[in-house]
Amino acid sequence: MLTSLRTPLCLVAWLLAPAIGQDAQLKTGTLDDPEALEAGRSHYLGRPVARTMHWTGAPWLLRETREKEENGVMLREWLACKPGQVVCDLGSGNGYHSLPLARAVAPGGEVLAVDLQPEMLTMLKVRAADVGITNIRTIEGAIDDPHLEPASCDLVLMVDVYHELSHPVRVLDHVRRSLRPGGRVVLVEFRSEDPEVLIKTEHKMPQVQVLDEMARNGFRFHSGTGALPWQHVLAFERAPTKEVDTRGWLSLGAREVALGWWRALVGEEDRVLQSFFLEKSHAATTVAWREKGRASHEEPAGWANSLKEWKLTACRVTSKYSGSVPGEGAADAAPRTHEGFARFSGPRGESIECLLVLNDGGSWRVSAVHGVSPREDR
Ligand SMILES: C[S@@+](CC[C@H](N)C(=O)[O-])C[C@H]1O[C@@H](n2cnc3c(N)ncnc32)[C@H](O)[C@@H]1O
Repeated sequence: MLTSLRTPLCLVAWLLAPAIGQDAQLKTGTLDDPEALEAGRSHYLGRPVARTMHWTGAPWLLRETREKEENGVMLREWLACKPGQVVCDLGSGNGYHSLPLARAVAPGGEVLAVDLQPEMLTMLKVRAADVGITNIRTIEGAIDDPHLEPASCDLVLMVDVYHELSHPVRVLDHVRRSLRPGGRVVLVEFRSEDPEVLIKTEHKMPQVQVLDEMARNGFRFHSGTGALPWQHVLAFERAPTKEVDTRGWLSLGAREVALGWWRALVGEEDRVLQSFFLEKSHAATTVAWREKGRASHEEPAGWANSLKEWKLTACRVTSKYSGSVPGEGAADAAPRTHEGFARFSGPRGESIECLLVLNDGGSWRVSAVHGVSPREDR
């Protein structure tokens, strides 16, 4: 187990807040598991790991403009924590969310405020004591282990934290074990898809990347909201771990999955369009797009048979679409990439989770397929 915090280097602006450095950390060691080293990862699945925000920048977490930028009240309403629950605020900092969450779970509930930096936890304790909150337990986590008991949490919340984890695979493994049955982990990350979010690139994440990373670490998408001004909110549940025998299952090719997703997109499946509707600026375009798709789309022969018993049970789409729709002909002069995540559930409880990318020409391509599993195993 790795216990120490990475060496503080010079303070570098993390927007307005200082940061502790992660450069020069790729020392010699096993390349197979960078998380066996204290330095951890400088990159994970193609994205940079951001520097940990240093405790001396803690006042920035309580800045006056934060509520306008992040709408923490709306986030906590969406989380809907109840009295008696145990909620872990992982990477709690000085407790921006821990304090109101502690009120939400009282009486009988508890907030576990975990942070790497004891100075953050000291500030949090002072703030809680000042307002008479007594149901927060502080835990000094390690870079690869938040020190949570197995099956102890109803919710593990990470607000502006996940992109900073130098040991994401190990931390997620502990988080997964810490969830009670029905428990959720919720990641709140600044949207990289949106240039109007004024946060440095490495502190933002595209939704599709979060979905991919979580799927690879034993989670599956549960729900989310695009209603916050600057951040994605994505909730996950444990995915089954049992090895399953998939022989004899209906096998769907990438093309069939993509076409099925498109069919759902232009059909009656409102969840497919959820994130568009929530993004105010795109609601009108999206409705028009859907109508156009319905009018123009013709199902190619053959695919409907293999998919007709499968239902789209979860889906999120991201990015700002300006291209043509599939089946409609010429691409837009400046089409943009459009990404999606979809879960299909089969007639016998099977499920297939996949990531999709909209090509410039307007056709969907499956970029990865994960989590083929039977629902009974949950
Ligand atoms: C940007 S701050 C966010 C604080 C808080 N969640 C908030 O919204 O105000 C990120 C915090 O995550 C903590 N952190 C980073 N990696 C961590 C890890 N592996 N375990 C626990 N805390 C971590 C940092 O010490 C820092 O306090």
